[in-house]
Amino acid sequence: MSNKIKVDLGKNSYNISLIEGFKNSVVKFASSTKSQCMLITQKEILNLYKDEINELSNLPNVNIFLIDQGENAKSFESISLIVNEMAKKHFDRSSLVFAVGGGVVGDVAGFASSIFMRGIKYIQYPTTLLAMVDSAIGGKTGINLKDGKNLVGRIYQPIAVEIDTNFLSTLPDRELQAALAEVIKYGFIYDREFFDYLVVNSIKIENKDIDVLQKIIIQCCEIKSGIVSEDENENELRMILNFGHTVGHALESFTNYKNLLHGEAIFYGMKCALYLSNKFGNLSNDEYDISTQLLSKFKLPKLDIDNRETFINFVKNDKKFREKKIRFILLDEIGKSRMSEDITFDQIKESLSVL
Ligand SMILES: NC(=O)c1ccc[n+]([C@@H]2O[C@H](COP(=O)([O-])OP(=O)(O)OC[C@H]3O[C@@H](n4cnc5c(N)ncnc54)[C@H](O)[C@@H]3O)[C@@H](O)[C@H]2O)c1
Repeated sequence: MSNKIKVDLGKNSYNISLIEGFKNSVVKFASSTKSQCMLITQKEILNLYKDEINELSNLPNVNIFLIDQGENAKSFESISLIVNEMAKKHFDRSSLVFAVGGGVVGDVAGFASSIFMRGIKYIQYPTTLLAMVDSAIGGKTGINLKDGKNLVGRIYQPIAVEIDTNFLSTLPDRELQAALAEVIKYGFIYDREFFDYLVVNSIKIENKDIDVLQKIIIQCCEIKSGIVSEDENENELRMILNFGHTVGHALESFTNYKNLLHGEAIFYGMKCALYLSNKFGNLSNDEYDISTQLLSKFKLPKLDIDNRETFINFVKNDKKFREKKIRFILLDEIGKSRMSEDITFDQIKESLSVL
C-alpha cells in the first residue's frame, strides 16, 4: 500500500500524501514562494497545536487567520474577511493558502483561494477523519446559505493534500465516529471488500487503532481519488458519493446546523437511502439487514422531524434536485450503487419512518 495517491486530473493533478508532522510540510511550501501566505485554521486547533502554529507564524511570509467554529463559518462573511485580509497584506498570484482544519476550514479556505485574484494555490492539511477521507479530496469548496448547504461554491483543486494522522489523537470521539459514516459510505457505494473489512475491524476502529485507521484513510483516498479522476465535475459517476446526502444535507439545514454533526446526518441519510434501495430498488433483504446492522452500532443524537412537509422543502433545495427530479443514489447491492430519478418526495417522506 503506497503512502502517496495521485488524483489524476491532467494539468490539475496532485498527490495525497501521508506525512509525519504538518509543520515541516508548511515550512517547505512557504519557503517555495517569496509571496505572502495564509494559514487558515480555527481557535480550537490553534490551542491544541500552539507550538507548531506559533513557530509557523514566525516565518517571514506566513500569516495566521482564524475562522469561527462550525457551519456558520461557511459564510460570505468569512470569505469577505479572508480576501480583504489578503488584499491588505498584498497577496499576489504566487501566494499560497494552507487549510489546516476539518471540512469547514477546507471548504472555506478552498473557496476563498478559488476567487482571490481569480484563483491562488492552496494546500489541504486535513485535521479531522472526515476531512482526511473525504472533504479534503476532490476540490469541492463552498459555503452555506440560510436555505441550504453548500449552495455557493466551486470545484477548485488544491495543489496537494498532506495528511498527518497525528491530528487524530486530539479529535473528540464524537467527531471520529461521525466521520465513519463517510468511510462506510465508500464500502456501500463502491467496494464490498472494504465494507467487509470495516465489519471485521469494527472493534479496532472503535478503539482508534492507528494502523487500521491509516489503512482506512488510504483506502478511502484511493476510492475517492479514482472517482474524482474519472468525473471531476460530477456529471455522473461522482454523483454516487452523494449516497445518504440527500436526506443528510436536508437534515442539517432542517436542524439549523445544530445538534447534528455532518457525519451523523449522513448516518441518518444512509438509513433512509438503504430503506429506499430495498423497498423501491434492487437491494436484497439480506444485504439490507447486514447494512442496517452495521449502522445500528453507532449511537446518534435523537431526531425530531415534527413537520415532514417543511423537511421536504429542504430536500427540494438540495443541489441534487434538478429539473423537478430528485437525483437519488440507491444501492443495488453492497459495493454497487447508481443514480435514480425515480424516487419521489413521498417515498423519501416514507423513508423517514426508519429514523
Ligand atoms: N468539500 C467536500 O467535498 C466535503 C465533503 C464532505 C463534507 N464536507 C463539509 O465538511 C464539513 C464537516 O467537516 P468536519 O466533520 O471535518 O467538521 P469541522 O471542520 O467542523 O470540524 C469539527 C470540529 O473539530 C475541531 N477539530 C478539527 N480538527 C481537530 C483535531 N485534530 N483535534 C481536535 N479538534 C479538531 C474543529 O475545530 C471543529 O470544531 C461540513 O461543512 C461538510 O459540508 C465537505
